[in-house]
Amino acid sequence: MRVGIPKESRAAESRVAGTPASVKKLVKKGLRVAVERGAGVAAGFTDQEYASEGAELVDRAAAFGSEIVLKVHKPSAEELPLMKTGALLISFLEPYLNDGVLEKLAQAKIDSLSMEMIPRTSRAQSMDALSSQANIAGYRAVIEAANRYRRFFPMMMTSAGMNKPAKTLVLGAGVAGLQAIATAKRLGSTVEAFDVRPEVKEQIQSLGAKYLELDIGEAGTGQGGYAKELSEEGKRKQQAALTERLKKFDIVISTANVPGRKAPTLITEEAVRGMRAGSVIIDMAAPSGGNCPLTELDKVVEKHGVVIVGLSNYPSLVAADASQFYAQNLVNLLGLVFPDKATDQIKLNLEDDILAGSLATHQGQVKVKR
Ligand code: NAI
Repeated sequence: MRVGIPKESRAAESRVAGTPASVKKLVKKGLRVAVERGAGVAAGFTDQEYASEGAELVDRAAAFGSEIVLKVHKPSAEELPLMKTGALLISFLEPYLNDGVLEKLAQAKIDSLSMEMIPRTSRAQSMDALSSQANIAGYRAVIEAANRYRRFFPMMMTSAGMNKPAKTLVLGAGVAGLQAIATAKRLGSTVEAFDVRPEVKEQIQSLGAKYLELDIGEAGTGQGGYAKELSEEGKRKQQAALTERLKKFDIVISTANVPGRKAPTLITEEAVRGMRAGSVIIDMAAPSGGNCPLTELDKVVEKHGVVIVGLSNYPSLVAADASQFYAQNLVNLLGLVFPDKATDQIKLNLEDDILAGSLATHQGQVKVKR
């Protein structure tokens, strides 16, 4: 059974779905591993390192032509025909986009597991790539803010006097937000945070940050630990309250998302206008429409003196560790496909809630309910 690891072709993607360390584990499991030449270079892994852990270095067609294909992003229109009937693809697949890719995979009789659909249960934690990547994104977003901010994050005492530490506000304390809080604290900023799910207050405080009390008249706790959309009145109250509060912050890291919806607007243009010149907003919700209407996807803009960062792929900026964590998530998931030694047959045990939950296409059918 051969596992293929192609080079990612999406623009500005430096991650790779296998690292020398993960290759070693797959080989130990009894799998052959075919890595496309140069696949890991952008993440800092050389062909030689893969080869010394037992990988075969192959061309693009051979990597895609393997029985199991591991990827970060779904295959492009050019890549999909390189895959063979009966193969298993494991990748982020953007299953809710409805862009026809799942239908094409099903037509080609390629079974696929979508990393976005791994259930967020305790047992699945070691395979939860959304979390492993969001964690990195939360860290890297704060580094981006520190880089764009023209002042210090920590208080500094120098012979020429001292400065006040930066004041950071984190909006949305999910996986990325909690890591952003921890990172901003480590850099010496004072940190406050808010989330519509009141149960998160304790987690915010346990990281040493202050919970920002915003009176929005309702809680936003939805299904499965996620948020639900606020009422129109709740949205208006939140925007108004934040417009007032944002005046005292230098850095805003906003991560607010509601599954399956456009990201909520939290920071209006009026709020941006009220912020101090030189402040920085990192709008991590940019890919789902942004928490600020002035955000431009994959751009850094300056509006009313405030720097607004709309980058969409922070994990790619920490490509070595992001690949390492993602590749380990994949190794753990393959451990369910082959519970013992790898065999020459791929048999997906659909009694297993993790495999059943992440199954996107199977035996010619699309399994995602949209
Ligand atoms: P996400 O990316 O969907 O949302 C980010 C945050 O935005 C959430 O905390 C949400 O409550 C918040 N938010 C939404 N609307 C908002 C608004 N109007 N104002 C302020 N904040 C707003 O969420 P993520 O980070 O993917 O995960 C959310 C939760 O899922 C976690 O906190 C946890 O409870 C659960 N989870 C459980 C896991 C497990 O059990 N293995 C693993 C990962 C997450």
